[in-house]
Amino acid sequence: MTILADRVHRVKPSFTLEMTSRAAELRAQGVDVINFSAGQPDFNTPENIRNAAKTALDEGQTKYTAGSGTLELREAVCTKLKRENQLVVSPNQVLISNGEKQSLYLACQVLFQEGDEVLIFKPYWVSFPEFVILSDAKPVLVNTDSKQNFEPDMDDLESKITDNVKGIILNSPSNPTGSVWSDEAIINILGIAKEHDWTVISDECYERLVFEGKFTSSKKLNDDHHIGAKILTCMSLSKTYAMTGWRIGYAFGGESIIKAMSKIQGQATSCANSIGQAASVEALVGDQSAVEMMQKKFKERRDLMVLLLNDIPGVSCDIPGGAFYAFPDFSNYIGTSFRGEKIKDSFDLCDVILNEARVVTVPGDGFGAPGHIRFSYPLGKEVIREGINRVQKVLKQLN
Ligand SMILES: Cc1ncc(COP(=O)(O)O)c(C=O)c1O
Repeated sequence: MTILADRVHRVKPSFTLEMTSRAAELRAQGVDVINFSAGQPDFNTPENIRNAAKTALDEGQTKYTAGSGTLELREAVCTKLKRENQLVVSPNQVLISNGEKQSLYLACQVLFQEGDEVLIFKPYWVSFPEFVILSDAKPVLVNTDSKQNFEPDMDDLESKITDNVKGIILNSPSNPTGSVWSDEAIINILGIAKEHDWTVISDECYERLVFEGKFTSSKKLNDDHHIGAKILTCMSLSKTYAMTGWRIGYAFGGESIIKAMSKIQGQATSCANSIGQAASVEALVGDQSAVEMMQKKFKERRDLMVLLLNDIPGVSCDIPGGAFYAFPDFSNYIGTSFRGEKIKDSFDLCDVILNEARVVTVPGDGFGAPGHIRFSYPLGKEVIREGINRVQKVLKQLN
């Protein structure tokens, strides 16, 4: 008998965090590592936000806040949703969490239980299936088409529909592919969700990192097209404002779901950290010029990354429309050998790249996408050039 509950054995550790830890360990040993695994901007949090946190500390905003978040921050979220997403939402439809990750976890806790199935598109962000497993429900994976911007394979989706499906998780712009789904694809899914009375959880944490055209929130499409699907949207301060360590994210949706999430959050963590919440008000309603600067830099880096990846013989990389990930296809290198050792899958390939080139990447198999590798590009251009150069040198040694 083990002292640990079954739940612990059912769940996988965060795979991307593991890669980031490996990079940190090597760096601590003095190894010159280039890290393409981090899911976070390399910029510091903008100064106006840091100053707001300092003021909050000095003014004694250091106590527990309301469980669902300070009214000031929930109002700031509503102001931002109106300004950026053209959505009218009231503060009692908003929950502030310790990072969007907690919102997503809570959403699964309040919506799903044993016997339920939840549809997740593949490639998926590593945490989605685990959130569903932690709610005792079953994740059901649905294919996307890598030749079509990783948009849903509608035939596969139809084939996965059962009476047990209770919900579906969307993530556009996507981690790991960086793809931004067309409005049509999302409208289609919303229509199916409405027809079957599923709840849609829309993870929009990369909403402000879209490089071409304009991002439209699923809720806005749902409202404008009078679809009437039930949607819970989750967003984050982490990526937009380079605030990953502050742990502030939020969810908005129907009042009863938000209330249920708030109830569980109240027992689990009381509330999100008060200083982070105060700083987040400034992030959402203050000067947005740092966001524009970061968007511009990420777009330049994306263009460079995609160019360099496509220059590698046998590798193909579509242009990702958003987030800060490139997700090239390396399947031509699967089945080759390195010094007599067969490279069976993307795990093996990423291991060779790490051990020989000292470049940390994330194997696509971990996201349900064999043959692909995820490259995060929030790094300086010279570092990107050097990293891809090193990868290319190692690949030349495969046969
Ligand atoms: C798709 C996706 N959703 C949610 C999150 C979590 O964001 P947060 O830092 O707000 O918890 C991440 C972070 O990597 C992500 O990639």
